[in-house]
Amino acid sequence: MKIGEFAKINKTTIDTIRHYMDMSILNPDKNGTYYDFDDHAQKDYETIIALKQLGFSISEIQTLMLFERIGKYTGYNQRKTYKAFYKNKLQWIHDELNRLKTMQEKLEDAIDAMPENNEEDSRVAGAPLDALSMLFCKKCQQAYRLIDGHVDQGEVLNGIMTCSCGERLIIHEGIVYGEGALNSSEAFVFDDTFIEDYVQTTHIDYLKNLHLTLQWARNHSIFKNADKGSVLELGSGRGFFLRNMIEMIPKHSVYIAVDHNPNAHQWLKKDLANAGENLKILCLCCDFNEIPLQEYSIDYLIDATGSTNYAFDHSDFLMDSIVTLLKQTCLYQGHFLLFENFSLNTLIPKDRRKWFQKEGVQDELSKLGFKCMRDYDTQLISEGGPREDFFVKGEQIYNYLYIGKL
Ligand SMILES: C[S@@+](CC[C@H](N)C(=O)[O-])C[C@H]1O[C@@H](n2cnc3c(N)ncnc32)[C@H](O)[C@@H]1O
Repeated sequence: MKIGEFAKINKTTIDTIRHYMDMSILNPDKNGTYYDFDDHAQKDYETIIALKQLGFSISEIQTLMLFERIGKYTGYNQRKTYKAFYKNKLQWIHDELNRLKTMQEKLEDAIDAMPENNEEDSRVAGAPLDALSMLFCKKCQQAYRLIDGHVDQGEVLNGIMTCSCGERLIIHEGIVYGEGALNSSEAFVFDDTFIEDYVQTTHIDYLKNLHLTLQWARNHSIFKNADKGSVLELGSGRGFFLRNMIEMIPKHSVYIAVDHNPNAHQWLKKDLANAGENLKILCLCCDFNEIPLQEYSIDYLIDATGSTNYAFDHSDFLMDSIVTLLKQTCLYQGHFLLFENFSLNTLIPKDRRKWFQKEGVQDELSKLGFKCMRDYDTQLISEGGPREDFFVKGEQIYNYLYIGKL
């Protein structure tokens, strides 16, 4: 029979048969222009399959079949060398089984060591009192006072804060709500599958840049050697930065995470409860322009694409209004998404493009008095994903990291 039919009855492909012929383990007769697969070929094919099922590779099968052919009727299968092949394979299988057994035990141990995700058991952390005492009314510059709320272990879960001019902040389930907080039914909702979906739907180049960015932020953390201080994060959002830096945050610091999306705060709080850290993190849900903090009160400012996000909807530079909150010794870690070029159909309006270009960002930071201590560009990329759809075909973007001080 011809090769096609032979492959078909043996439920394999023509390419596989050709490969066996190239290796000379299957040698059909040549009948004119085509190969003729007879009973001998069928027997050889069955031998190949039987040896494969014993775990032999094609090149080992080649040697074994040569041995068999050349040694026929000479007791070849009792010879030391031939038997050694089988014995070696058996030893290999024993070793593999041991390796798999160890792997299985290690996996079982790793699973046992993972905490059970008992959501009912995880306590919702309140707003830390130390952080609440930093809240100042933007209008009258007086401290907010807790007028209603129960303090438990230095935290407030639900309450109301007010200042002398009558402005109010609401504390609900440990999150402080101020001016400009979005309505949770209109804001993006994060759920348990968010990270998986994000990783699966975002282009690998974009993820690589994000990974490099987080790594750089860790390697050059502005918190090195610090054990206290006040930290302000602009746009804590999905918490990529916070979750990656959590062990580096000064132990006795107060960390104020600002975002106008209440759903992001709720999600982040749940994650932080799982991280088991005992840090004083205040989730402050308000607009960047309404942050209720005292002037000159912040030691460390984290801006992991907060300014970039703000620039999507505003023509002013976010840092212009934030700088008054910073102490004269404040250290700043900024992470911007910058454009190498703009296409004709770009989504970035003309008056905001300077905040998406390195020169614009650097000039403005330097006008505000920042001195660059270190900076870094990732590679250019041209694809994002459904959650990173702020650039269009033909545009290339990169991540720009900046560390500076006032
Ligand atoms: C890309 S996310 C930041 C990512 C985050 N730093 C991280 O590490 O995962 C930007 C965040 O800024 C928030 N944001 C944008 N404009 C804002 C505004 N005007 N006021 C407060 N938050 C704002 C968004 O809700 C979003 O969560």
